[in-house]
Amino acid sequence: MELTLLIEEFKKTYHKLPEKIFFCPGRVNLIGEHIDYNGGNVLPCAITMGTWLAVAKNTEKVIRFQSFNFQEQDSLHLQESYSKTGAQWFNYPLGVLNEFLKDNINLSGLDLFFYGNLPVGAGLSSSASIEVLMAYAISNLFGVNKDGKEIALLAKKVENEFIGVNCGIMDQFAVAMGKKENAILLNCDTLDYEYFPFHSEKYSLTIINTNKQRKLVDSKYNERFAECRNALALLQKKLSVSNLCEISPASFELTKLLIENEVVRRRAQHVISENQRVKDAVLALQMNDWEIFGKLMYASHQSLQVDYEVSGIELDTIIDFCKSFAGCIGARMTGAGFGGCAVALVAENRLDDFKTKLIKHYQTIIGYTPDVFLTSAEDGVKEIAF
Ligand code: GLA
Repeated sequence: MELTLLIEEFKKTYHKLPEKIFFCPGRVNLIGEHIDYNGGNVLPCAITMGTWLAVAKNTEKVIRFQSFNFQEQDSLHLQESYSKTGAQWFNYPLGVLNEFLKDNINLSGLDLFFYGNLPVGAGLSSSASIEVLMAYAISNLFGVNKDGKEIALLAKKVENEFIGVNCGIMDQFAVAMGKKENAILLNCDTLDYEYFPFHSEKYSLTIINTNKQRKLVDSKYNERFAECRNALALLQKKLSVSNLCEISPASFELTKLLIENEVVRRRAQHVISENQRVKDAVLALQMNDWEIFGKLMYASHQSLQVDYEVSGIELDTIIDFCKSFAGCIGARMTGAGFGGCAVALVAENRLDDFKTKLIKHYQTIIGYTPDVFLTSAEDGVKEIAF
């Protein structure tokens, strides 16, 4: 949506101009999947698509939620605390508001109008985007001035406690701290981070949405979470570590039979090998070796498919096609899995051909079409001048 349209919609709804406009991107994880809640390294970047918020304070002590994307709206009196109301979209910004209220911050009423162009629930962090957006906006409007890390942690708390999803820190951190033309190497245990240039003249960052209706993602996610905790407890009998990612591939080889259950062993195998792949991928970036980076993406997918079992026929169909297409040097599922999106590096001069052939191939096997779009590494949450 054009900024002018967002302002028009705001004016139509609230009969005044917004005071400020903010934007928060979504994210794509380049490599390091199902690693954040195991204390290892991830390499995401913020992307072009995201969520906008036009906002003005009001003197009536009322919080009004409106969105261009959803019919539901709400109007709540400012009170001391809130709890989740059903499955409505505005639970995300409401949870954020609730978190600020705990800090006794003196808030006024707010007229809020949201618009987003991220596919919802497709693995590009639409929920982290709206949470971080709201946290940044409140922080900015009321002079709280939390930094990006604090905002990411607050938004994760909302997701864990108010929304009730057991996610790690990666998504909120990536959309709060993104940097144009850079990927973020984040250590999810210490929250130390470093930017690495992620921009190529030759290869385009491409996202493919399976358009699969995802079910049971949260329960499967929690199941993997529990399996990893189980593997860790068994390995701790011999190794003095506090998370799976502290274990090197070599010491895992020596200790893995402590995990008798073959399925749980494979879960740990994925986590420990994936953490190493992130380190290798960063070396590849430093050497500007995109082909090696791409190979590591394919290896990551294989591990997620076989050892971690969070892929599915839709994602595998895309990755198999990518492997067979000469201009695609790497691809993998991204995000929690079980559908959602894949990310690929495609030679710029082969993009049109890639898109046409992939859509045709996917439709033949799956029965409906995927969406294919180009993106790039972008800045994190920010205020937009208008
Ligand atoms: C979801 C979660 C993240 C992360 C990924 C898997 O996106 O929100 O915290 O665990 O899955 O890497």
